[in-house]
Amino acid sequence: MKIISLVGARPQFIKEAILNSAARASEAWKHILVHSGQHYDISMSDIFFGELGIPKPTYNLGVGSGTHAETTGAVLIGMEKILLAEKPDALIVYGDTNTTLGGALAASKLHIPIIHVEAGIRMLPRDMPEEINRNLTDRISTVFCCCSDLGAKNLERENLTEGVHVCGDIMLDVIMRMKDKFKYNEIMNKLGLENTPYIVSTIHRDYNVDDPEKLTQIISGLDQIRQLTGFRIVFPVHPRTKRALDKIGSLSVEFLDIIEPLGYLELMSLTQNAEFVITDSGGFQKEAYYSGKRALVLMPDTGWRELVEAGWNILCSPNAEDMMAGYEKIIRQANIPHEIYGNGQASEKIIASIMHELC
Ligand code: UD1
Repeated sequence: MKIISLVGARPQFIKEAILNSAARASEAWKHILVHSGQHYDISMSDIFFGELGIPKPTYNLGVGSGTHAETTGAVLIGMEKILLAEKPDALIVYGDTNTTLGGALAASKLHIPIIHVEAGIRMLPRDMPEEINRNLTDRISTVFCCCSDLGAKNLERENLTEGVHVCGDIMLDVIMRMKDKFKYNEIMNKLGLENTPYIVSTIHRDYNVDDPEKLTQIISGLDQIRQLTGFRIVFPVHPRTKRALDKIGSLSVEFLDIIEPLGYLELMSLTQNAEFVITDSGGFQKEAYYSGKRALVLMPDTGWRELVEAGWNILCSPNAEDMMAGYEKIIRQANIPHEIYGNGQASEKIIASIMHELC
């Protein structure tokens, strides 16, 4: 069986790392990796391949940055050529990026089965780019690998009941298998954080950073939390956010420890000793949970609702007042929910589900 796996953005590299090694271990499976090139900076792409041991992709579409139509369209065109040449038995796509939708569209028009890893996630507002991408990808997928029962229930509500498998979250597999490579002391020394309480914050969503007023509110919320707690705020900065911060002026963010985007091992190592996390990243809010840390989630809604319903993560509007209210909740004692997204065996379950559906 020949399977193509398509990645393009940071969280997808992390997920591919583990599925790739599980697929290569299977004799019945020829695995071909394609990188769309949606993320291309060394700190946004190469570093993940190196530290997670992902083999060099067979193809790189080099789509780069652009409008949604430009990136999605470039992936669609590039993937069609590869799918026609390779004639795979199926295409694996992950999550909700423009790469995901572009690849899925190309495969569906060629009647190549699509395996959607992280299927069935739904969140509001429905017109968010990622929500459009994940909805449409589910519409045309054949095998749905869900992280939890909630994903399967969401699909059922949309009459998608065939080929649905609850496999758990592959990001948990990664963190469990990479734990002994975390370099706690190295990153703490590098950032001068020994014996210093700190928060890790990452903000990159277009709706949070592209509007200077909203971004200023978030910065003000971070500043108030810092003033109240005395905690340092380590802020690995996405290129989109860096540009937006440059526009609103560096003085207002002097209190932040702004650093370049971190690779997987450094970010996870840093998170293990953090007080808590403030983020609008879908992946990082779960990785905080897997690290035993709570997250203040600056999103109107989240696909990882179970963590909010369990009272572990706190959803919060991107303004100073709500962030302070969120902070008051997050410092209270909470019981960590157990095994919401499986037990670290998702990659094996995904491989078994694909074999079951396609062989
Ligand atoms: C994308 C995904 C989002 C995911 C995130 C992970 C979409 C619609 N969104 O958002 O779901 O959570 O990846 O990080 O696909 N840039 C660089 N260098 C890079 C990559 C990006 O400078 O290597 C800059 C460019 O100016 C680009 C901007 O960041 O226009 C945004 O990148 P893009 O890939 O469009 O979206 P993300 O915000 O990263």
